[in-house]
Amino acid sequence: MPSETRSAARLRLLIPEHEILARVRELGAQITRDYPEGPIYLIGILKGACFFLADLARAIERPVRIDFIGISSYGKGKSTSGEVKLTKDLDCSIEGADVLVVEDIIDSGLTLNYLVHVLSQRKPRSLRVVALLDKPSRRIQPVDLAYVGFQIPDHFVVGYGLDYAEEYRNLRDVCVLEEAG
Ligand code: IMP
Ligand code: MG
Repeated sequence: MPSETRSAARLRLLIPEHEILARVRELGAQITRDYPEGPIYLIGILKGACFFLADLARAIERPVRIDFIGISSYGKGKSTSGEVKLTKDLDCSIEGADVLVVEDIIDSGLTLNYLVHVLSQRKPRSLRVVALLDKPSRRIQPVDLAYVGFQIPDHFVVGYGLDYAEEYRNLRDVCVLEEAG
C-alpha cells in the first residue's frame, strides 16, 4: 500500500465489523422468509460487493446461485462521472430467475439504474436490489431498494469491500475517509 495514500488520509470508524455482520445476518433471514421456492440468483456488482455477497449468501437459508457483473462509473475519483459502462457481463442467463442484485453502496443511483435497466431486459421472473449502505442525500435518480443494511450520511466511506482508488477494501470495519489537514 503506497505510504503517501495512508499518510494523506485519516480513517474514522463508522460501522464496526460486529454490527455489519449482525445486520447482514438479519438481511439474510429476511430474504430467506421473503423468497418463494427455488434458487435465488445473487448478482454481485464488482468489485465492492464481493465481501458483502460472500457473507450474505451464507446468511440465506435457501439455494443460491452466484454471478458477478462489472460496471464502472467512478474511475479513481470520489464522485460520479455520470458515465456508466459494462466491464464484465454475467456468465449465465437470468431468464425466468428470481434475481437479487447485491450492491455495496448506493450514492447517486446512476450505476444501479443502468444495471436494473440492462437486467430487466433479460426477463428475470423477479428483480430486486439489496444494498449494504445507502446515502439517500446524494441521490440524483430515484432507485427502488428492497433491502438496505444501513443508511449513512454523506461521507465517503471505505472498508468491507469499499475502496478509494482500489485501497482499503480489506478493512474489516466501514470507515469514513477524511482528508488530512
Ligand atoms: P452511484 O452510481 O453514484 O450510486 O455510485 C455507486 C458506486 O459508486 C458504488 O457501487 C461504489 O462503487 C461507488 N461509491 C459511491 N459512494 C462510495 C463511497 O462512499 N465509498 C466508496 N465507493 C463509493
Ligand atoms: Mg460498486
